[in-house]
Formats: sequence, C-alpha cells, structure tokens
Amino acid sequence: MPLVGYGIWKVPAENAAESVYNAIKLGYRHIDGAYDYMNSAEAGQGVKRAIDDGLIKREDIFITSKLWNNYHAHDHAIAAAHRENEAWGLGYLDLYLIHFPIAQKYIDPSEIKYPCFWEDAARTKVGTLVKVPMIETWKAIETLVQTDSNPQGILKSIGVANCNAQLLTELQSQAKIPLSVLQIELHPYLVQPQLVQMAQENGIAVTAYSSFGPQSFLELGSPRALKTEALLTHPVITKIAEKHGKTPAQVLLRWATQRDIIVIPKSNNTERLAQNLDSVSFDLAKEELEAISALDKGLRFVRS
Ligand code: A2P
Repeated sequence: MPLVGYGIWKVPAENAAESVYNAIKLGYRHIDGAYDYMNSAEAGQGVKRAIDDGLIKREDIFITSKLWNNYHAHDHAIAAAHRENEAWGLGYLDLYLIHFPIAQKYIDPSEIKYPCFWEDAARTKVGTLVKVPMIETWKAIETLVQTDSNPQGILKSIGVANCNAQLLTELQSQAKIPLSVLQIELHPYLVQPQLVQMAQENGIAVTAYSSFGPQSFLELGSPRALKTEALLTHPVITKIAEKHGKTPAQVLLRWATQRDIIVIPKSNNTERLAQNLDSVSFDLAKEELEAISALDKGLRFVRS
C-alpha cells in the first residue's frame, strides 16, 4: 500500500475522472475513496482510462473504498460492497473500510442514493441510529475477502476507520480475517500516539486523513476550522520547512509517513498534488518530529 495516496473526499464527481487520471499520470498509485464521497464511478472511470492508455495495469494501483453507515446490517453490507465494487468497475477493491462505527437506519439507495447522515432527501432530518454491532458488519465483509477458499472475493483486504483502541481490540478478538488498516483523523493538533502504537504493534497499518488539520475543513465552512490557527502557516512548521527547502505541506506529510503512517491528501491543483507525492524525498530529524508532535492539543474536527 503506497505511503502517499490521493484522497478524493471533496473532489466533485464531475471532476473526479479527470483528477484521478491526472493523479495517476503524476505517479500516484493509491486512491482513497468512499461511497460517501459520491464520486466512485467517476473515479473508477479515471483509473480505467489510465489502464486503457497503458499508464498502469490494474495490479499497479491500490484502491480503497468505504462502507457507509446506513448499510451496516449483514445483508445490506454485502450488497453495498458489491454496489461499490461495481461503481468503481475495476473487478475488485484493494481495501474496504467500515467508514464509521455508527449504524444508521437502512435507507434503500433507490429512495435516497447518498443518505450521508441524513434521513430525508432535503437533508433536514439526521438519520436514526440502529442496533447493529460492528462485529456483524465485520463478519459480513469478511465473506467478501478474496482467499484461497474464496477466490471470487471482491475485496483484497478489509479494515475500519474512525475507531478507538477499545473497539479495535474487540473486533480483533472476534475477526477471522485480520484488520489490515485503521484510518483516522490525524495531524499535529491530534497526534493520538497510543492509538497509532497499538494499531501498528498489532499489524494494523494506520492511514491519516486531514493531515493539514483545519485546512481540510475550511472548504466545508467549519466554524471550528475557521477559528483554529492554520498548520500550513504555523511558525513551528514553516521554520522546519525553510530549513529543508520544502513546503509546510510536505513537512506535515513527512511527519506522518516517516512514522509509517499513510497519508491521503486531496488537492484539486496539479502542482500541489505533485508536491504532496514528493513529500517522502527528505527526512526530518528526531527533534523536528518531536517539535511537531508537541503541537498536539487533542483537537478533533470530525466529531461523529
Ligand atoms: P486544494 O484542493 O485547493 O489544494 P484533505 O486533508 O481533506 O485531503 O484536504 C486537503 C486540503 O489542503 C484541501 O483544502 C487542499 O486544497 C489543501 N492542500 C492540498 N495539498 C496542499 C498543499 N501541498 N499545500 C497547501 N494546501 C494543500
């Protein structure tokens, strides 16, 4: 799984095919998507075009997608995974994550295609919670993993997102197929060292989302992000960036990847995409890693 991926959260569906194709052209070999991002089919078209043009083969690229909250019940999870795999149209998904440890009322996609926390199309009513334990959902997606005894499986590996250490332990104790990845919000304002350590010690790779902290949420108009000091212009970060002749974004990404944490920054700008991919080309000193980690203030932007 390549350490730097292209995250397509907030990439509009109408641009997704082109953006993904361009990212592959720039050298990206890992795309992080989700049903909730509402752009899987278009992103898949971008990958297919890259394959058709001979830029890559299917096996050269790592595709992640995620199961949304409304489909946690056993049969719904299986159906949703099949729909998602078909939307991408690439034969299989390399990684499929349970997006949140939150189960919401089932809504048939023919009624509302993307409920995404809402129960009505006008997005006025927040979806009702339902009692589906995570292990039920896990057992459902386990049946879709490609193994020697299940060669037709559509998922190469499975994992979770937005879970704490307690839930990871609980899932691990009952999982037949080991958890491959934990994806969490992670940046210098939310360092979570114990959770990262616990996951990595248990062979679960950690992927960080929102590596630039508040920056990720500005385009959503988040009041919390608006009143938080930017990391990209924070003096601790800019000073280290200047010293290495790198950009603050590259420093923030390297702070994660140097500790084997995978990053998936999104950008709608080619130059920034290239810059992000190139962020593994230097190393930070131990004291620099520590100075960045010292910015921790347990500040979380995704609070579901
Ligand atoms: P843009 O698309 O205009 O480049 P996320 O953390 O959700 O992946 O979002 C990343 C945010 O940071 C986006 O707002 C993106 O905006 C911005 N961004 C991505 N790469 C860089 C970079 N290298 N320098 C500065 N901002 C960046």
